[in-house]
Amino acid sequence: MAKNDDPNLLKKIIAHAKEYGFVFPSSEIYDGLSATYDYGQYGVELKNNIRSYWWKAMVQMNENIVGLDASIFMHPTTWKASGHVDAFNDPLIDNKDSKKRYRADVLIEDHIAKIEAKINKEVDKAAKKFGNDFDEKQFKETNPRVLDNVKKIDDINSRFKRDLEEEDFDDLKLLIEELGIADPISGSKNWTEVRQFNLMFSTELGSLADGASKIYLRPETAQGIFVNYLNVQKTGRMKLPFGIAQTGKAFRNEIIARQFIFRMREFEQMEMQFFVKPGTEMEWYEHWKAKRLAWHKALGLGEDSYRYHDHLNLAHYANAACDIEFDFPMGFKELEGIHSRTDFDLKAHEEYSGKKLQFFDNEEEKSYVPYVVETSIGLDRMFLAVLTSAFQEETLEDGSSRTVLKIPPVLAPIKAAVLPLLNKDGLPEKAHEILDELKMSVNVQYDGKDAIGRRYRRQDTIGTPYCITVDHQTLEDNTVTIRERDSMEQRRVSVKDVVNEIEEAVSIKALLRSVN
Ligand code: GAP
Repeated sequence: MAKNDDPNLLKKIIAHAKEYGFVFPSSEIYDGLSATYDYGQYGVELKNNIRSYWWKAMVQMNENIVGLDASIFMHPTTWKASGHVDAFNDPLIDNKDSKKRYRADVLIEDHIAKIEAKINKEVDKAAKKFGNDFDEKQFKETNPRVLDNVKKIDDINSRFKRDLEEEDFDDLKLLIEELGIADPISGSKNWTEVRQFNLMFSTELGSLADGASKIYLRPETAQGIFVNYLNVQKTGRMKLPFGIAQTGKAFRNEIIARQFIFRMREFEQMEMQFFVKPGTEMEWYEHWKAKRLAWHKALGLGEDSYRYHDHLNLAHYANAACDIEFDFPMGFKELEGIHSRTDFDLKAHEEYSGKKLQFFDNEEEKSYVPYVVETSIGLDRMFLAVLTSAFQEETLEDGSSRTVLKIPPVLAPIKAAVLPLLNKDGLPEKAHEILDELKMSVNVQYDGKDAIGRRYRRQDTIGTPYCITVDHQTLEDNTVTIRERDSMEQRRVSVKDVVNEIEEAVSIKALLRSVN
């Protein structure tokens, strides 16, 4: 069975993440708060390492990209200008029998996915039947059942798109009824009307007595970049094209927050807005699509774990958009979005603030509002992608089994564990000496408890790529045993070499070079 076909994979990852200090349910002693999670001692390290890889690949590796850290609270007009007050809505529908609430668009997308699965089944069947002679393209273009299903999908998509664009929620409900879509839990088809629900959290600034005003918790970090466009452009003397990168928390009152850290109400984004000359945006859109996929693939989480998904229903600000989807335990889902946002945001902020947000082009001798291509990835989703690929249950040659997190060494929370074979004869002291040397450059851990085999297994569960064992021979010739997590191979090397080897193996340099 392929790993992602294991129906319990997500459950196993959630249990492992909790048991080994990666992710805990938030405020668990009070029975938790739905769709909020806390990162534990190893989770925070993994998260920091992912963020650092993103930041370095963006800011350090690109002379024309700089960073920013804007505040979470912003002037409320920001969200009026950006369109979030009026248009950041999800179409909701309730099932009258089960009392469960769903996103109407998700119900329809799931229905389409079922028809797509039928097409794939038909293709797989024919491929088996015709063997090497099978021509998939020709089959898809001629097989009546496939053609019929493709037409069904096209018809649903165009009606669904029109309904969303025209906010025709009566027809959206009719579509759900005509497609015979049932509540996935109860099977009931007894639906309420579809209505819009704004996803922004709001709170009050100031005390009520002095006229408190309603403010929002940012639903995306991007607007902090847009309102600072001119500050950064002027003070950094930036010329088009240039980018501003930012990481930080975002908040959305998600209706169906589920699937662990995939969809949360408080999450972290890593976004980059790339400001370009109008008319060149499609070129840059393609550039960033390719660049971002290369960033993902360089980690080695699996060549086939990614696919592009071009958006049919464009957000209110975009003229082109696609997702990079990852093969999560729940199937291929959005990991990152790349959007061509035109001049929508800067123009809207110009209009609402009355301030010019333009660029003076020396060659053209005129000012204009730049266009923007955005890359936007959820740090928590990236964390789940890493865990999905890393989590392995292996049966070893001797029949025993181990659970190991094969996290890319550069992202691993702990890079090496130093283990004295015995807790006497000067071995702990020697182990601490090596630890003190290694901790100057990488995150290391000392473990002196239990049999050495158990200690190796413990490090496997948290994804430590190297274990260094100090024994009596170390005291004689200054050599140690290095044990590699993935191959479990052990080698004898000098202490000096082991330090160099580990520093080299977990260095981000090679990774950055490969995505440059
Ligand atoms: N500035 C554009 C923007 O925010 P988005 O597609 O809504 O676009 C970008 O979000 C990324 O943020 C997504 O690809 C996803 O990785 C992450 N994301 C969005 N909502 C999320 C949620 N509720 N929980 C976790 N991650 C989320």
